[in-house]
Amino acid sequence: MANSQNPLLNGATPRAVLFDAYGTLFDVYSVAQLAEQLFPGHGPALSLLWREKQIEYTRLVTTSRRYGQLGAPDSSPPFFRPFGELTRASLVYSIKKIAGDGHFALEEGELEAKTERLMAQYLQLDAFADVREVLTALKVRGIPTGILSNGDPDMLAAVVRHAGLAELLDHVMSVNRVRHYKTHPEAYGLGVHAIGAPPGQIVFVSSNSWDALGAAWYGYTTLWVNRTGLPFEELGTQPTRTAASLAAVLDFFPA
Ligand code: LAC
Repeated sequence: MANSQNPLLNGATPRAVLFDAYGTLFDVYSVAQLAEQLFPGHGPALSLLWREKQIEYTRLVTTSRRYGQLGAPDSSPPFFRPFGELTRASLVYSIKKIAGDGHFALEEGELEAKTERLMAQYLQLDAFADVREVLTALKVRGIPTGILSNGDPDMLAAVVRHAGLAELLDHVMSVNRVRHYKTHPEAYGLGVHAIGAPPGQIVFVSSNSWDALGAAWYGYTTLWVNRTGLPFEELGTQPTRTAASLAAVLDFFPA
């Protein structure tokens, strides 16, 4: 079992680690808690729909083209919008949808005020309890680390600062630079460029199964951190390794 999971058997010895941000390093649970506080009885549904819509919007703006643009150079998708804007738009959509489904009326100004509070919470997410320890252990072993996230640079800077992790990360990369969201290859390519190694020599860590799958398809060695016992995507490709906690990334780099 241990041998069949040994990444060294792939012939590519990993030499760096890149992490997804939201849900992987940073716990979005506090957002769900606040959602429940603001919309009692609807918090879990709201936070789930918000997250799904947010990701759906990133895919919409990354893949859509106007008629006649199909053959055009793909360097800058015309519908690209910053992640913060998509996060806000998906939140507004989700509040309206849940209000409609739950048949409650939104008072004048309530949508705007509650949107602001939930958006502010997104900038103050806590890191999961084991993040500092894992990043420190990687640093001690001399392994370069970074974040590669859909989040805007200012959003990422805020959460990294809030969690006090800046000195433990060598790179904080936003896909905003290439204006393509994950799972577009230009987004994943940022990590390869920054580390200066082929993707098989980089461990990409994500708790989002679609992200772990996209990274695996791109060619990264992948660790899917499955904290909640979900099934993996049913598209025929498995991550290099699946574990219930982030600490499993250390197994790629024996001390
Ligand atoms: C990110 C989201 C997708 O950080 O979790 O990229």
